[in-house]
Amino acid sequence: MILLLAATAEARAIAAGLGAAGLPVLASLAGATRDPRRLPVPTRAGGFGGAEGFLSVVRDEGITRVVDATHPFAHRITDRTARLCAQEGLPYLQVLRPPWRPGPDDRWTEIAREERAAEIVPPGATVFLATGRQGLERFAALEGREVICRQIDPPEGDFPFRGGRFLTGRPPFSVEAETALFRDLGVDWLVVKNAGGAASATKLTAARELGIPVLMLARPPRPDAPMVETAEEAIAWAMG
Ligand SMILES: NC(=O)c1ccc[n+]([C@@H]2O[C@H](COP(=O)([O-])OP(=O)(O)OC[C@H]3O[C@@H](n4cnc5c(N)ncnc54)[C@H](OP(=O)(O)O)[C@@H]3O)[C@@H](O)[C@H]2O)c1
Repeated sequence: MILLLAATAEARAIAAGLGAAGLPVLASLAGATRDPRRLPVPTRAGGFGGAEGFLSVVRDEGITRVVDATHPFAHRITDRTARLCAQEGLPYLQVLRPPWRPGPDDRWTEIAREERAAEIVPPGATVFLATGRQGLERFAALEGREVICRQIDPPEGDFPFRGGRFLTGRPPFSVEAETALFRDLGVDWLVVKNAGGAASATKLTAARELGIPVLMLARPPRPDAPMVETAEEAIAWAMG
């Protein structure tokens, strides 16, 4: 049984490819999104409950390979899974799409940590956080700006600092929709995680067209473990 850690576009494509080939696959979602898009293979949802929980699933399900197609910024699950697989002698592969790179018309400033955003974005600016709910507290020093945080699910609680508000939206978003949204909101700065991939690059195209500067959060480091960039390569590895 192959364990496929989701949830990215690559995970969806890998699930479809392995499912179509008739290979036994168990997909795993963190359960962070209330109503996630279904995958075309049997799926479990929710954290494993730490390293021991993960190892129990490996044992109980007879897992023989692990394909890690989690988000490029979900570094805790990736670091732990790589370590446990090495420890157990379980074949492990991480799937990591290439990062975005700025073109000549882009105005990007790269930052390593969310806390640095307030050193760059001036007070009074309207800031659009396309970074999601995870890690929002780390932007707290942006208080004094008008901060808009987009997330998939309707908010469950108050915004964690003054001057901020949530905006609900489920991707994918077209360039036209992003351009209209940023214009309507009067966005002065866009904050983005360098997730890579075509589907969510539309906000960067919109920012370029509107001349909006971008704060680009650099990716966390990856474990020293086998890695591919595409779903096709991951499918070939899992079938090998
Ligand atoms: N970080 C982002 O910016 C981002 C963006 C879009 C989507 N996501 C997706 O959202 C999920 C959570 O992201 P995160 O940044 O909170 O992850 P994380 O910090 O790396 O992991 C936190 C905990 O979430 C659980 N977990 C994460 N991925 C899981 C999976 N595929 N199956 C089962 N449990 C999982 C694990 O809980 P236990 O310790 O209980 O096992 C893990 O310890 C990931 O699957 C990721 O692909 C993340």
